[in-house]
Amino acid sequence: METQTKQRNSFTSSVGFVLAAAGSAVGLGNIWRFPYLAAKDGGGLFLLVYLVLALTFGFALLITEVAIGRKTQESPLTAYKKINSKWGFLGIFSFVVPFLIYPYYCVIGGWVMKYMFSYLAFQGQVAVEDGFFTGFITAQWQPIFYTVLFAILCFIIVYKGVEHGIERYSKILMPILVVIVIFIAFYALFISHTDENGVTRTGLQGAAVYFIPNFEGLTVKKFLTIILDAMGQLFYSLSIAMGIMIAYGSYMKKDENLNKAVNHIEIFDTGIALLAGMMIIPAVFAFSGKDGMSAGPGLMFITLPKVFNSLGKFGDFIGLIFFVMVMFAALTSAVSILEAITSSMMDKFKWSRRRSAVIMACSTFVVSVIVCLGYNVFYFDLKLPNGSVGQILDILDYLSNNILMPIIGLLTCILIGWVAKPKTTIDEITLNGENFVRKNLYIVMIKFVAPVLLFIILLTGMGIL
Ligand code: PHE
Repeated sequence: METQTKQRNSFTSSVGFVLAAAGSAVGLGNIWRFPYLAAKDGGGLFLLVYLVLALTFGFALLITEVAIGRKTQESPLTAYKKINSKWGFLGIFSFVVPFLIYPYYCVIGGWVMKYMFSYLAFQGQVAVEDGFFTGFITAQWQPIFYTVLFAILCFIIVYKGVEHGIERYSKILMPILVVIVIFIAFYALFISHTDENGVTRTGLQGAAVYFIPNFEGLTVKKFLTIILDAMGQLFYSLSIAMGIMIAYGSYMKKDENLNKAVNHIEIFDTGIALLAGMMIIPAVFAFSGKDGMSAGPGLMFITLPKVFNSLGKFGDFIGLIFFVMVMFAALTSAVSILEAITSSMMDKFKWSRRRSAVIMACSTFVVSVIVCLGYNVFYFDLKLPNGSVGQILDILDYLSNNILMPIIGLLTCILIGWVAKPKTTIDEITLNGENFVRKNLYIVMIKFVAPVLLFIILLTGMGIL
């Protein structure tokens, strides 16, 4: 045991761990999904609900996973079994999720790369043309090419290991990301636009829509929708229920303060989400008013390039740094997914990191190509139980986010709350005599509140609620 612990990779410092875990948490979810949900759900009110849930529900799930990882010193596939020998099946579930997510995350990473290179080649204005996005994703070779490029970058970082790969790159990319987000968020406040009807809207007005709670027309049903949206978003945003935080927790040194590190990850993730809203909502509001804000998934790839274009030459520059930033966010998230499956292979089969990384990268790549072809050769429309219609990418996303992840989260709560008891994780959190301030809240959350909320998320995902 002793030698195994020593051989295991580890983050060299708490800062390294926090930046890597925040790198995983801060991703496309923070940048396009959070602002879009906030806009749809009446700005300030959504923010308030989100914050409360982050400090309670999100916190309990996140700290549980990090503690399971550090306690067992194992990756997801084998960690649950070590907590309770009958619960090994949960490890298999949480291996399957990143295996489903990684291929399509690389495809979206590829789309971001395409936009980044377009801006780099001063082709930003082309991205504004109607049909640019659809034309690109339905093309046969281009999406595959950019997916390969993105996947190679992820592979290199994971191949290099925890300290020389993930930690080193997170320490470089995350601070740059923060600087860019803050810069664009402040710039957005000073945007002003007059439309063809002569109506002038400013970024500051957009920021007010974003921050000030709007209780107008609020019904119980609407309030429940807000809670549900915030819960689902939080869950995805913190990268929980897919083994990632278990893998990263297993690389955390025993003498570090786990509770504090988890607080820092949460502050990072929520802070970037808030800033991303500040960066996007005022700009989109200024150009297309409240209607434009509900553009949903197309917001980032279709609406934003239009905003950048109308800012003239400087807009091209903003567009470039925006997509560089999104690329960094997507890269550090994708790396964490690949790491979760790679480390599982290493622990389960005692394979070397190199062998595991090569095999995982190659097998997921085959799925990535199928996802790309889902927009041309294998195109079909499938109606999903939650009401949306989608292609292969959406099906993988639906299966993992709406079905498997809530199930894993729910079962993890049952395992820690009722079977192994909260003491299992609390002992790990207070290993060095740390004061666990939210201990009682944690127990209530993990035993009662979180499982109920997760069950509701699951029912909603299945279209039952
Ligand atoms: N947490 C990431 C985000 O907010 C999403 C993610 C999903 C990351 C799956 C890793 C794995 O975008």
